[in-house]
Amino acid sequence: MNYLGISCGFHDAGLSVVNDKGEILFAGHSERYSKYKHDKDLCPGIIKDALRHVSGSFELHYYEKPWLKAIRQLRAGQRPGPFSMTSIIGQANMEELAIKRTGKIHTHVHHMTHAAAGFQTSPFDKATVVVIDAIGELDSISIWDASYDSNGYAQYKKIWGRKYPNSIGMMYSAMTKRVGLKPMDEEYILMGMAAYGKPIYSDIITDELLTDDVLEFKRNLHIGLEDDFLGSEANHMDIAASAQEVTEHLIKTVMAKARYLGHSRNLVYGGGVALNCLANRVLGDYFDNIWIVPNPGDAGNSLGAAALGYGKKLIWKDAFLGHNIEGEYPIDNVINELHTNKMVGVASGRAEFGPRALGNRSLLADPRGPEIKDKVNEIKRRQKFRPFAPMILEEHVDMYFDMPRNWKDSRYMQVIARCRQPDLFPAIVHADGTSRVQTVPKDDSGIRKLLERWYDETGCPILLNTSLNIRGEPMVDDRNDADRFEKLYNLTVCS
Ligand SMILES: [Fe+2]
Repeated sequence: MNYLGISCGFHDAGLSVVNDKGEILFAGHSERYSKYKHDKDLCPGIIKDALRHVSGSFELHYYEKPWLKAIRQLRAGQRPGPFSMTSIIGQANMEELAIKRTGKIHTHVHHMTHAAAGFQTSPFDKATVVVIDAIGELDSISIWDASYDSNGYAQYKKIWGRKYPNSIGMMYSAMTKRVGLKPMDEEYILMGMAAYGKPIYSDIITDELLTDDVLEFKRNLHIGLEDDFLGSEANHMDIAASAQEVTEHLIKTVMAKARYLGHSRNLVYGGGVALNCLANRVLGDYFDNIWIVPNPGDAGNSLGAAALGYGKKLIWKDAFLGHNIEGEYPIDNVINELHTNKMVGVASGRAEFGPRALGNRSLLADPRGPEIKDKVNEIKRRQKFRPFAPMILEEHVDMYFDMPRNWKDSRYMQVIARCRQPDLFPAIVHADGTSRVQTVPKDDSGIRKLLERWYDETGCPILLNTSLNIRGEPMVDDRNDADRFEKLYNLTVCS
């Protein structure tokens, strides 16, 4: 038996396949196949690619309870979405999936699929799980005790929570919209802007939006904020810094509660808010060990749903779980391009499951010197204030960065760290002196071998890493995408 996990119907559709040994055979994003950013629907391409990994029959597991969600939508005065699985998944997709499917479609509580995506991929046998997102069916914050029973089945006990419309994620999205960015998409830009502002509006935001009770909001932020909230002249960078400060305060409140109520000092953290790598630096103040699955948002829930179907601990190796571009990792060609052109694209092996490129669909560059940031920005054409991320051989991280407390590594680029030598690497250091670090562990991945070779030849254990994508499109997935990228930007993409 195999277990197909599906998240779709709202945003960021994903599909995952787990077999009855607990191996993750496939996990991918629909957007990479349809080329439509944040595609909410499964598309034929991802279904075909996922089914290539299935031998024998499978069960379908869906990442939330449509009926519960419809109740919340009715309560909120919205039109309820569809709750028949055929309407949600699509008639043609259902027919494709019917080929080898057995049994009914299982549905799971949204926050429990976040919890499962985290806990069942984590190295822990026992953990306190915290989920913070915009909204599940009704849940917006939940804390769970998670462990395995004597037969190895995961057990989840919810010990605290907050429900719609009290939502940290919705507040952050409302602030994203307030500064003219796209909510449910560009929250990461708001986070990057925070370093340029002063948190002068934090008290006003707190007074206007929050009651004196723990994590209770005065207003329903699902509908956003007025365009002139905090005044029409308010500086956007200051709004960003204030939104970040208030968010971090709320996250700390949740973590303190989880530490007090939870049964373990191992933290598993999930939900879209767990992508806020600036806020994540505080997690180690409350917990000894931290695990965030590389895809903690809703697309990652496809893996959570499959994990709940399987029931036990999954075998977690790395995040390279999507579409495969066959062939050896092109180390020689990449190194040559780095020496001659300072930057190069790579599209090799299996695509990353999650929003960050980790070396298989990356634009890599020599991080040394002042010119490289502008050079990479010519291609990425993104806001100049945003720096790029460094990837570093894990054993060298302490020489170049001060990792936050209890963050032993950052293999999936999930936390910021203060750079010790910012003058050497201006392209990878933010205005506040921090970098969003990816530590590359000693494993058999292509990116590890490449970085070792780069270090041997240059003495520098760091490369600049940003996602390989055509502007406005999702990350490159297959070789056709890579060819289009090469043509458009006149930059070699090695496979
Ligand atoms: Fe969610």
